[in-house]
Amino acid sequence: TRVAVLISGTGSNMASLIAAGQTADAPYEVVVVISNIAGAGGLAKAAAAGVEALTVEHKPFGKDREAHERAIDALLAERGVQIVALAGYMRLLTPWLVGKWAGRMLNIHPSLLPLYPGLNTHARAIEAGDLEAGCTVHIVTEGVDEGPVLGQARVPIQPGDTPDILAERVKTAEHGLYPQALADFVRRS
Ligand code: GRF
Repeated sequence: TRVAVLISGTGSNMASLIAAGQTADAPYEVVVVISNIAGAGGLAKAAAAGVEALTVEHKPFGKDREAHERAIDALLAERGVQIVALAGYMRLLTPWLVGKWAGRMLNIHPSLLPLYPGLNTHARAIEAGDLEAGCTVHIVTEGVDEGPVLGQARVPIQPGDTPDILAERVKTAEHGLYPQALADFVRRS
């Protein structure tokens, strides 16, 4: 199964998806990485792993979000991509792209959804006095950070945790969860 990963930044989840997809019995392969930010850290990581790494900046499209997405979608079609995995892709998607990839687009979110959709999840979890945090892989639907849950991983929140410390602990869990959830999803579909 041919997978594309969309990123905007560091791409640590992207790297774990690529690595797992390159193992012998992997049910999927990451064939292209696309960033909306030129020079995003993940692009170099993808290229180093032998994966095509492309940039489609949103800026030239101005307010026309859908035109930007159509440019991305054309690249996905050319490469025969079957599943799209969002991994720190920091653009809201239009109903057009979500509809086009309905049931074939996954996202990872750094909270135990339905808790804390949106940004600053770790600060909010600490502030609320939660004893655990985590991450969720889900199917992308029109509502932000909604959609059927494919898997979750939990980590403890320790006394004295800052959002950064907690983010790091959750990230480690993300790197295990996302490739597993994607592989399970591909095997079932
Ligand atoms: C991750 O925490 C992910 O859950 C969120 O954005 C972050 C991306 O990090 N959606 P990275 O670029 O994969 O390191």
